[in-house]
Amino acid sequence: MSSVKFPMRLDKFLGHATELSRELARRAIRSKRVLVNGDVVKSASLSIAADDSVMLDGGVVTIPGPRYFMLHKPEGYVCATADGDYPTVLDLMGDEGVDLTIAGRLDKDTTGLVLLSDDGQWIHSVISPRRECMKTYIADLDGPIDDAIVQRFAQGFSLRNEVKPTKPAVLKPIAGPRVEVSIGEGRYHQVRRMFAACGRYVEQLHRVRIGGITLDASLAPGEYRELSPDEVKGVAS
Ligand code: URA
Repeated sequence: MSSVKFPMRLDKFLGHATELSRELARRAIRSKRVLVNGDVVKSASLSIAADDSVMLDGGVVTIPGPRYFMLHKPEGYVCATADGDYPTVLDLMGDEGVDLTIAGRLDKDTTGLVLLSDDGQWIHSVISPRRECMKTYIADLDGPIDDAIVQRFAQGFSLRNEVKPTKPAVLKPIAGPRVEVSIGEGRYHQVRRMFAACGRYVEQLHRVRIGGITLDASLAPGEYRELSPDEVKGVAS
């Protein structure tokens, strides 16, 4: 899933794995400061595989892997890298948030699961409309739903000022005005607008699942954790 691809040239590897520019990496190689699998190497173009051991000045060097996180977004935070008016979800992560991309936005007032990573391909697999990665929300409405609304969601319909109908969505009653809704798209304010089109107002919206990843119940609003390798692989399921 990483955007770093093996095999790669030794000077490129050093450029990714250390602070050295490619030119300085070449100089280090010429000065015999670089060992590959225990041997001094002289060629900057040597092909490095993922399981090769590379040392510089006696220390092992590795390319930092991509990072993947889930975060429990609290109300009042925006999903943006910076905002003039409101705190952002990246503010909750301090230095760990540097260079991360948010996989699909939640509205300021929506709470729940947000995924973040510095792996562009993985982010794409989560948000690409073609992949139709399902997102599941719990919505508290201003009134109960009936079968007609469930059918409309299942069949798809045109939202205000949009021609293209929504893709089939799964709407299930939980209790009273609380429902679960799953959609495979990510249009602007989509869940709120779908309910509005059916005469219902969303009082609270909380995302609980994206693809195969469920919000960890032990994360309080504002907390985050790294994804497990299985979660990283399972997101598109
Ligand atoms: N749909 C919405 O209306 N809001 C969100 O935050 C996410 C989906």
